[in-house]
Amino acid sequence: MDKGAVPDSGPARPAGRLPPGADLFTVEGVMVPMVNYGRDTACLILAAGEGTRMKSDLPKVLHEVGGKPVLGHILDGVEALGIQKNVVVVGHGGQAVRNLLGDRYECAEQEDQLGTGHAVMAARENFIGFDGDILVLSGDVPLLRPETLKALLEKHRSDGLACTILSCRLKDPTGYGRIIRRSNGKVWKIVEERDSSLYEKVVEEINAGVYCFGSMVLFNAIAHLKNENKQGEYYLTDVVKVLSEGNQGVETLLIEDADEIMGINSRSDLARAQKALQKRIASRHMENGVTIVDPANTYIDAEVEIGRDTVIYPFTVLEGKVVIGCGCAVGPFSHLRMGTVLEDGAEVGNFVEVKKSSIGPGSKAKHLSYLGDATIGSKVNIGAGTITANYDGRDKHPTVIEDGVSIGSGTTLVAPVRVGKGAVTGAGSVVTKGRDVPPHTTVAGVPARELGRSKDKKKDTGR
Ligand code: UD1
Ligand code: CA
Repeated sequence: MDKGAVPDSGPARPAGRLPPGADLFTVEGVMVPMVNYGRDTACLILAAGEGTRMKSDLPKVLHEVGGKPVLGHILDGVEALGIQKNVVVVGHGGQAVRNLLGDRYECAEQEDQLGTGHAVMAARENFIGFDGDILVLSGDVPLLRPETLKALLEKHRSDGLACTILSCRLKDPTGYGRIIRRSNGKVWKIVEERDSSLYEKVVEEINAGVYCFGSMVLFNAIAHLKNENKQGEYYLTDVVKVLSEGNQGVETLLIEDADEIMGINSRSDLARAQKALQKRIASRHMENGVTIVDPANTYIDAEVEIGRDTVIYPFTVLEGKVVIGCGCAVGPFSHLRMGTVLEDGAEVGNFVEVKKSSIGPGSKAKHLSYLGDATIGSKVNIGAGTITANYDGRDKHPTVIEDGVSIGSGTTLVAPVRVGKGAVTGAGSVVTKGRDVPPHTTVAGVPARELGRSKDKKKDTGR
């Protein structure tokens, strides 16, 4: 047999025992090489499932948690481990999933989604010639920490195991596969909720859907799975029984944090994961010296950066790639969207939406404004109700507001437009497209007209 190759079929026979000292063991009549350590590591991510319970046209793994697709969180975790060989099994919504993956990952196609075991089988070609350990991850477990994956891999290696399963004890284990142990405490098998007996249902230790396997062991055992279960699927979890009955080392790494292993199967799971992630993100920022007045009512996406001594007031939404400096004040009720940069000491207040704009040091937009595609200098005051009209129905245009400008309440700036250093706009002005306001000039009216120039051009009027 080729290195890593798997027989396509084989008669179902009882699992064999490992003879002492042998480097092969028998699984259902087929000789399987023993796992061998200190070798390569690869990652296999199962992301082909339809996610029927989401009731969605979007593949399950592309639904977002914390502003990032569920699968994106897994990929981040895997990247943090620095593993070179990463294979993703794609199927349902394959093209959309491939778009997210780009060319950094190998893809294996699972045409029909016949179960998690079948998904692993679909990737066997990708592992021909590979001899090492494979971390197998479900694409729907977004809150898994890289440290946990590392600990799983370390236990697998140091204990010389064939299979190490990430597990957790849950008060309500409903929906998860249960880890069933023998009377001596050793792992025997995993039983899915739907196939479980009453006695198995009360088991609180669940399978997180994250494993480490010796590659040869995995691909040889997987070829012998059957789909004789309630769902008529090939379960990856059945490999555990094959291995334990073949006297291969199978153990669990039990973790405490139930949030980490949360699998996303429904919209309710998505909301629960969102909440748990919010808590985690808020804690991280608070540990870094950010005040978040009410973390339960503040929404901060995973990619947001916030400097120390910044205060985030309630009902603020920080979405996508947002960078906030030190000593800023944001909210209550602010919405900062992708591409927003607040420099040190900037303040954004009630009902202010900012998109793809930078607000310079010490500048303020405290009330009722929309700032989009704007570059705002230092010590600028944006009056209540200011709007940058950045969209002409076809294209988006930029607005530049230079240092020390004072924008009067209710000003509309029709982009593209520039307001020069130290200039002032009167309340209710409409500064029309391309009618740049020269430095140190006051304009007002609809359309805005020049009222005068500041005598002392050196003195900027920022406040
Ligand atoms: C699975 C485990 C269960 C575990 C739970 C943890 C099995 C049989 N059960 O159940 O023991 O407690 O995860 O979250 O493995 N997938 C494919 N192709 C398929 C089917 C699934 O790629 O044909 C992918 C899905 O996209 C998903 C992952 O595998 O990312 C898990 O599949 P899912 O159907 O969610 O399994 P669970 O029922 O949650
Ligand atoms: Ca799942």
